[in-house]
Amino acid sequence: MCIELFQLRDKVAIVTGASRGLGKAMAMALAEVGANIVLVGRNKEKQAEAEKEIADFGVKTLPVLADVTKQEDVEVVVSKTLETFGKIDILVNNVGTYIGKPIVESTTEDWYNLINTNLTSTYLCSRAVGKHMVDRQKGKVINMAAALGALGANNAAAYCASKGGVIQLTRALAVEWAKYNINVNAIAPGTMETEITKAMLEDPTVRKAVLSKIPLKRTGQPSDLAGVVIFLASQASDYITGQTLFVDGGFSVQ
Ligand SMILES: NC(=O)c1ccc[n+]([C@@H]2O[C@H](COP(=O)([O-])OP(=O)(O)OC[C@H]3O[C@@H](n4cnc5c(N)ncnc54)[C@H](OP(=O)(O)O)[C@@H]3O)[C@@H](O)[C@H]2O)c1
Repeated sequence: MCIELFQLRDKVAIVTGASRGLGKAMAMALAEVGANIVLVGRNKEKQAEAEKEIADFGVKTLPVLADVTKQEDVEVVVSKTLETFGKIDILVNNVGTYIGKPIVESTTEDWYNLINTNLTSTYLCSRAVGKHMVDRQKGKVINMAAALGALGANNAAAYCASKGGVIQLTRALAVEWAKYNINVNAIAPGTMETEITKAMLEDPTVRKAVLSKIPLKRTGQPSDLAGVVIFLASQASDYITGQTLFVDGGFSVQ
């Protein structure tokens, strides 16, 4: 009986940045328990490859090419989803990027790029999808934060600020939307093996230094987010809102 709490059969989930990395892994996890998936990204070929893998779970898919830092693109994502499926149950605000630089060497453009990609996109998508969820009086919003959203780090001022903003946006929206039965939570990964971290982790000295700070003594795999995203998207987490779940091998607790 309890296993039914985690079922997402016939639910509709928008996953931004679903063409690779953590977004793709989360989209596949949601599809495996029955959710139809709207994949959002900018690269047509990568999106088509991911769509094929997700469709193998027997769910419906809708690929939408969009830059989620642009309001007009976000509106297209929402209108195409509603045209196709008639509803949105789950929004995963996964899109994000990283630029590592000492702040004195960074440019204003670097700052805006990080804040727009990591934080403004989350605001734009939440607002556009939120209007629909408020009308329906239900919904699950899952934001992609980072362990560095709650900690300081070298050469990562804009990144830490953007992800700290995501954690705070999560708390504020959770309070604002509780009356509409909309849960808003965040996932805060530590160091995960994706394209963003590939070059860094290929350097053995850096890898050793990274591992020395992770109590579980390994980096995360995209599949490490599967259980968490299903939990936060499903009935199993109905009494949880405004929280950030750290999926970081213990990195943030010591
Ligand atoms: N990897 C880690 O160690 C780690 C740790 C903590 C938090 N995170 C967070 O987890 C999230 C995913 O990270 P990842 O490592 O999977 O990154 P990734 O491999 O670089 O994937 C990013 C995804 O976002 C899409 N994307 C980027 N900018 C976009 C935009 N403006 N509009 C639409 N789509 C856009 C990309 O597709 P296109 O290029 O095709 O658009 C891609 O599908 C990010 O928010 C990141 O900050 C990652």
